[in-house]
Amino acid sequence: MAQQIPVDSAAVADAPPGADGTHEITRDLAYQRHALVNVIFWGRPGAGDREWVLIDAGVMGSRAVIEAAAASRFGPDSRPSAIVLTHGHFDHVGALEDLAEAWDVPVFAHALERPYLDGSASYPPAEPAVGGGLLARLSPLFPRRPVDVSGRLQALPENRTVPPMPGWRWIHVPGHSVGQVALWREADRTLIAGDAFVTTAQESAYAVAVQEPEIHGPPMYFTGDWDAARRSVEILAALEPERAITGHGRPLAGAALREGLHQLARAFDEVARPERSRYRAAPARAVDGSAYDRTHPRSRGAAPANAPGFRPGGALPWRMPEGNDRALAQGLAWFGIGLGLVEVLAPARFARMIGREGHERTLQLFGMREIASGVAMLGSSDPERHLGLRVGGDVLDGGLLLAGLRASNPGRRRTALALAAVAPVAVLDALGWIRARDARARQRRIARAARRNPRPS
Ligand SMILES: [Fe+2]
Repeated sequence: MAQQIPVDSAAVADAPPGADGTHEITRDLAYQRHALVNVIFWGRPGAGDREWVLIDAGVMGSRAVIEAAAASRFGPDSRPSAIVLTHGHFDHVGALEDLAEAWDVPVFAHALERPYLDGSASYPPAEPAVGGGLLARLSPLFPRRPVDVSGRLQALPENRTVPPMPGWRWIHVPGHSVGQVALWREADRTLIAGDAFVTTAQESAYAVAVQEPEIHGPPMYFTGDWDAARRSVEILAALEPERAITGHGRPLAGAALREGLHQLARAFDEVARPERSRYRAAPARAVDGSAYDRTHPRSRGAAPANAPGFRPGGALPWRMPEGNDRALAQGLAWFGIGLGLVEVLAPARFARMIGREGHERTLQLFGMREIASGVAMLGSSDPERHLGLRVGGDVLDGGLLLAGLRASNPGRRRTALALAAVAPVAVLDALGWIRARDARARQRRIARAARRNPRPS
């Protein structure tokens, strides 16, 4: 996949990870990378209870690593004064409900983002065909239903201040999401851009794994209004930031950042906007309600019994329409192939990323297994039947990662992050496998009943 606006790696502006697993950008700004997304901490090290702010809340399952980093950076048991959201996509709110409750904090977001955060509306459907990468192809599997933090939610004030962050202002940067905001500190020209632009090709699993820096438009598969997205990049380029941290990719700084942003703004329609997109002709907008899919509202922990396509009963977040089982299996097969390619082609880099240096050969073998099982599944007319291959592989992967959590492993924090990232995929593998097994048993029962009670001719 060609880079949109290449950037010299000298423009990367973060420090190596500290003992708490965060990378410092300035003395009071740090981020933690969670496999495919960044979580940002604002506040001085050792600031203490209620003296710092969390910006965005990562992917599902990341609560423990965020809490551990916060305790290490700001002091044991220190809670933030607030959580501020750039927007509400699943990879920015994964641990939001749990963290907000555990910390008893207000959640700030733009008013137009509220329906995605109070349980009343889902995001518009993803577009798997844009961008060309594996993560784009998997995007229909990404959650788009709302979370519900309505009791804690506060709209960012109209005077553009960010109440829990003195010295910062918010800037409305719609396009990727109707209520997306960037945060801007004029004093040192520091920008927190959300996903208005990103610094990695988020559509590609390989690019996300190796984090080659570039300046890239918003992730294509979840962007609903391309005209607004272009205007948002123009607004941010005009700020002439000294440094920027985005939702995905590494922070960048200096003249290369500024020049790259202007290049992206100028060439946006050529490099960032997909040639074909359902949202090109019919953008998802707040003004006409098309940005809010109200067919699957939810209150916390449960789907409504009358939601179309969903079976009533239970409160498990993984419940899904049965027709999606095949798409899920195919998506997991593609994911396995992508991950396998990274393991086979870049084993040293991948081992470093997951804190398992010295296991490069094992990772290459695991990668070959991932590719083989993915190809076998995609070649099958009912790929969900072969999810057992992936479940077996998950057990081996889990063993390698769990062994890396030992105190003697200096990379154990990276290993813990990797474990948190793959756990949801392993759950999907196991869930799909169980559902396919149950479906086969049901078919056998129906066939037996048909043999016992043949229809009269
Ligand atoms: Fe996003």
